[in-house]
Amino acid sequence: MIKGQFPVEKFQSIETPFYYYDIELLHKTLDTVKTAVKDKNFHVHYAVKANANPRILKAIAAYGFGADCVSGNEVLRALECGFDASKIVFAGVGKTDKEIRIGLDNDIFCFNVESLPELEVIETLASEKGKTARIALRINPNVDAHTHRYITTGLQENKFGLNERDLPKALEMIGAYSHIELIGIHFHIGSQITDLSSFEDLCVKAIEFRQRLKSWGAVLPLINVGGGLGINYQHPNHYPIADFESYFRLFEKYLTMDDGQALHFELGRSMVAPCGSLITRATYIKEGINKKFLIVDAGMTDLIRPALYKAFHHIENIGSDQEYTTYDVVGPICESSDVFAQDISLNEAKRGDLIAIRSAGAYGEVMASHYNCRELPKSYFSDSL
Ligand code: LLP
Repeated sequence: MIKGQFPVEKFQSIETPFYYYDIELLHKTLDTVKTAVKDKNFHVHYAVKANANPRILKAIAAYGFGADCVSGNEVLRALECGFDASKIVFAGVGKTDKEIRIGLDNDIFCFNVESLPELEVIETLASEKGKTARIALRINPNVDAHTHRYITTGLQENKFGLNERDLPKALEMIGAYSHIELIGIHFHIGSQITDLSSFEDLCVKAIEFRQRLKSWGAVLPLINVGGGLGINYQHPNHYPIADFESYFRLFEKYLTMDDGQALHFELGRSMVAPCGSLITRATYIKEGINKKFLIVDAGMTDLIRPALYKAFHHIENIGSDQEYTTYDVVGPICESSDVFAQDISLNEAKRGDLIAIRSAGAYGEVMASHYNCRELPKSYFSDSL
């Protein structure tokens, strides 16, 4: 059992639940990503939706990565935290006029456009401001990401991106507009993708679309392949817990770029999930008829992934070295789905033990809610405890 990575003594005086971020591990992960793309025309935009904690964003911005945003407020947050406007991309099927204006006013790098009506609105708003909006067409490639259906985005039945059917019309509109500059094509097929062959399929489609657009006269300085690289939730202590090397090598091999063409990525989870843990305390141990419940003070309001996607997070009792016992680890929320894990082995727990729910740095804190009038979890950082 590895408990060494947590400053358990320091945790004793902190009110639970809270998110704990291992800043050294974050830096190590960012170093790995930076090294993997060095000397290539590869550009990584961190997907802010995965974790928008200012402290985390500032660390990522300091590495020179760009930001992939999905709301006007994410654009503003990214700017506040030091991301360069020239490296901000803005996706989303429902960008409002207000949000598009935020992007235009701040001269962001690129809008990833997801529908023909959106194209028209961007042209109108850009022309009102006398500006030119750079855009990439987000194409729905109909590639199966082989992941949970709630986080699959690149199939025809999903709401995201333009259909191939709409592409000629999109190009015709762009040709007629004078405030839109087409700079690329964009894809994102889903999240927590561990079967990398899905990315091979994406490369094949990307090349096909590039050819087709080229034959219609479109010059594309960049291709953006989105994010989605999955992590190994089972073994949080393995480093790196995402296979960055194979991931980037795959794109190098299967998506040969035209001269000077840049390849853009939008990684979220793999960059921040490993460094975050949700730290909670055992409130009660309750003997059920066939089960033993470990009731903790964190709930689905603090980390919704298990309740929403039946997601697995490795859990450790970092306050005990007793024999292993089987528990269902549950929260206090009035929902039967408020369960972090079922039938898992943990060191025998007593009231007050500290429990760590691992690999929670992505889509954890940022998805927390006030349901049941609960407070939002606070965050603490390894370098400033
Ligand atoms: N780019 C776009 C356009 C996206 O929609 C997403 C994630 C990303 C990039 C980043 O993907 P990543 O590298 O993090 O897989 N709440 C869910 C995940 C939702 C992902 C939404 N889009 C979860 O907890 O698993």
